Amino acid sequence: MKVDGKHLRTIWLEEDGRTVGIIDQTRLPHEFVTARLDTPEHAVTAIRSMQVRGAPLIGATAAYGLCLALRADASDAALERAYAALFAARPTAINLKWGLDEIRGAVDGLAGAARVAAAYARAAAICEEDIAINRAIGRHGVKLIEAVAARKKKPGQPVEILTHCNAGWLATVDWGTATAPIYTAHERGIGVHVWVDETRPRNQGAALTAWELGKHGVPHTVIADNTGGHLMQRGRVDLVLVGTDRVSANADVCNKIGTYLKALAAFDNGVAFYVALPSPTIDFSVSDAVAEVPIEERAPEEVATMTGRTADGRIETVAIIPENSPVANYAFDVTPARLVTGLITERGVLGATRAALAAAFPERAGATRAGAPRAPVRPAAE
Ligand code: MRU
Repeated sequence: MKVDGKHLRTIWLEEDGRTVGIIDQTRLPHEFVTARLDTPEHAVTAIRSMQVRGAPLIGATAAYGLCLALRADASDAALERAYAALFAARPTAINLKWGLDEIRGAVDGLAGAARVAAAYARAAAICEEDIAINRAIGRHGVKLIEAVAARKKKPGQPVEILTHCNAGWLATVDWGTATAPIYTAHERGIGVHVWVDETRPRNQGAALTAWELGKHGVPHTVIADNTGGHLMQRGRVDLVLVGTDRVSANADVCNKIGTYLKALAAFDNGVAFYVALPSPTIDFSVSDAVAEVPIEERAPEEVATMTGRTADGRIETVAIIPENSPVANYAFDVTPARLVTGLITERGVLGATRAALAAAFPERAGATRAGAPRAPVRPAAE
């Protein structure tokens, strides 16, 4: 998407054709800084420290992390060492494992330079596929926005969309998942206004979603995390649109902590709650997400402190809780399928059911059951 009129992606291959460029998202919204990943260790650090984050971008970065490992040493031992380190970087988003498995599959049976070339080719293809998937999510999801726009009483009244965390282009290679229908609507001249949950403790909404929507010219308002229910009660939200880090076979949705509370508020108020997901985010090996998906617990400092820019331009971190108070920092929660109105995928808008997911992605559902390699992801034609 565009930043100050220039089209950017979140990850790219540098001019040397080997090292990997990223936007350092820990510096946004106050500074725009890029970084280079030269080694698999750099990729691990980038994922762990959330320089890159968001399920699809984590998957793409992990894929390139294996490329960097193979470039230094194309042996199976080096591949497996890097796989283990990258896999352990963050536990919840299944795209990480998906990206690693895709590279492992692509290099299987190859050696030396051919192995390295195959890894880089698959990583580049993963990035292109991610963009194609998100564009397809945009094309399918925009129909929901168009339907709401058509029901608006006053012409030109914007469609009010609430989103949580950042499932925008910064969380993917481009376009985003939850934001793809929003950007598509904006492109088509449909008025939208986005309520952006700040998303404590890492503030992905306030820092990242607000930044990217603002840079692209999409009207939005940042709200404190607890505001959504109030807005829904007053008819100020037409639909909720979020992304996800892992969807189980029975369509439970694991996403950023606080998503579940938004789903409950939406359910109570009869507001449509949609989840945008690329198929690599579906984990057909998990049936009960509450019981089976590992929920990342992060450092207490993320809750105990706030970082921001002072009036004179310095970036400062300050403590916001008593010195000795214990902290719990759960990064994700699970929204049960019964609270989800629909799943916006690259193959259309589906009901949040096991049957709908398996019917839309039979090759992946079947491959997981049989333990066979997964087929490449292809968006559905319109
Ligand atoms: O902890 P993060 O910032 O990686 O969490 C990201 C989210 O929860 C996103 O909403 C999710 O990955 C979907 S991204 C398209």
